[in-house]
Amino acid sequence: METIKRVGVFDSGLGGLTVLNRCMDLLPEEAFLYYADTDNVPYGNKTREQITQYVDNAVDYMLANSCKAIVIACNSATSAGVDYLRDKYKDEIIVSIEPAVKPAILEHAKGGKVLVLATRVTIEGKKLTDLIKLYDKENVVVKRAMPELAMLAENGVFDTDVIVPHLKGELDGLDLKEFDVVVLGCTHFPFFYDSFKILMPWADVIDGSGGVARQVGRELERLGIREKELVVAERNRVVYVDSGRDIDSIKRARYIRSLNERLDMLFKQR
Ligand code: DGL
Repeated sequence: METIKRVGVFDSGLGGLTVLNRCMDLLPEEAFLYYADTDNVPYGNKTREQITQYVDNAVDYMLANSCKAIVIACNSATSAGVDYLRDKYKDEIIVSIEPAVKPAILEHAKGGKVLVLATRVTIEGKKLTDLIKLYDKENVVVKRAMPELAMLAENGVFDTDVIVPHLKGELDGLDLKEFDVVVLGCTHFPFFYDSFKILMPWADVIDGSGGVARQVGRELERLGIREKELVVAERNRVVYVDSGRDIDSIKRARYIRSLNERLDMLFKQR
């Protein structure tokens, strides 16, 4: 790989493209390495120890391949392993996503409830419990695991006729009218923004990607390593790897492109 310094963005699969999309918008002068851990997706049903090991391998790879900052664009990885990573890679910039509970409560809830959706690992993790404890003074947060949504995104199932009934089934037993805000606490979930808005058109549907992108910018600025201008051709702005290997098929490259186009289309609606 060439020696230009990139921002490494990591996820279990293609969910982190939702974060990459925001980073590319907010940091137009930066180039990126996107690492999808295709061999091990989904993380949602793995143990915390397994996930920590996978993320450690990925961070190791990204640093060895000239990344100047690491973005953990995977809430499950944050939940399971970010403390370990921060301790191990003390001198590196590591910015990690977490469910957007704080803005949901402080900015979006208008007296109603907040629905936090994520993988099982994130929902059951201490990090989310602590985060909710910190901001949820009125007990408005309800959290629920959505175990199948990440793989539906990996497999390109976005049809609202399929997804809306799936969401309804997973959220069975909740009175959806009570919720002002839906927090998408898994980076795969914004791919289904349109379905969430069909199901709950009155609710704000938010995620943590904007906060992460701004934080990356601040960190690069603070260390004086933010680029002044983009030094690679636009088509080489992002290098994609699957568990450390170059993307090896045209079909895969096309699929990634179609997901990026989907995000551009969806995010225009927000
Ligand atoms: N995209 C990931 C997250 O933010 C994980 C999905 C999965 O691999 O289960 O939690």
